[in-house]
Amino acid sequence: MPTPFDVLELDPDAGPAAVEAAYRDRVKEAHPDHGGSVREFLVVRDAYERIAEGYDALDHDADSEPETTAEAADREPPTPDPDQRLVRYVDYELLQERGWELTDPDLFEKAQAADVDGDRCGRCLVEDAQTLLEAAEADEMVWPYACRGGACTNCAVAVLDGEMPTGAGSILPRSMTDRGIRLSCMGAPVSDEATVVFNVKHLPGLDDLRLPISRFEQAELDD
Ligand code: FES
Repeated sequence: MPTPFDVLELDPDAGPAAVEAAYRDRVKEAHPDHGGSVREFLVVRDAYERIAEGYDALDHDADSEPETTAEAADREPPTPDPDQRLVRYVDYELLQERGWELTDPDLFEKAQAADVDGDRCGRCLVEDAQTLLEAAEADEMVWPYACRGGACTNCAVAVLDGEMPTGAGSILPRSMTDRGIRLSCMGAPVSDEATVVFNVKHLPGLDDLRLPISRFEQAELDD
């Protein structure tokens, strides 16, 4: 029976950076749209999660009330250290509910004024070594993802302001990256500040690329 390190083709003493890099390579090979299969994809993802589970234990407190955007606006925004970047985020579903457009120039301010739960609009700090997805999770955000390896587009964000590289090996076509779409599991903004809309997986063009999470869940049930 292969160990998780065997699946990722790594030495057992490989460090976190090597694990992350190996996972990104392997998950692309295993992706059903790139010559692999759902089963192979799940084996790779499971191997990665088993190795990474030490730092993946987030303690969500289900009883605590989420801060609203109005409460958050009353607080001073966090001050980034030199090795951190400040990211403002808005949930795409909020745009859809309110009829707002990605091109609205004051989108973040409008979302803040809407006084919705803070996990739909807020700010987080991204450390040097973190992806945007990891930073959001560290901030106890519920941020969509499935593969964590650039292969499914569930974690896609639209970058409205600031700079965020595309990420090596991203499956996003040029037509999407030209519109500022990025995969939050593949990297983070490099500018001191950025504004992103997360949860854009249902944007026209992205939906076609997306592998639904339910597809993986069904394959797990079939195993
Ligand atoms: S979680 Fe699948 S591409 Fe980011």
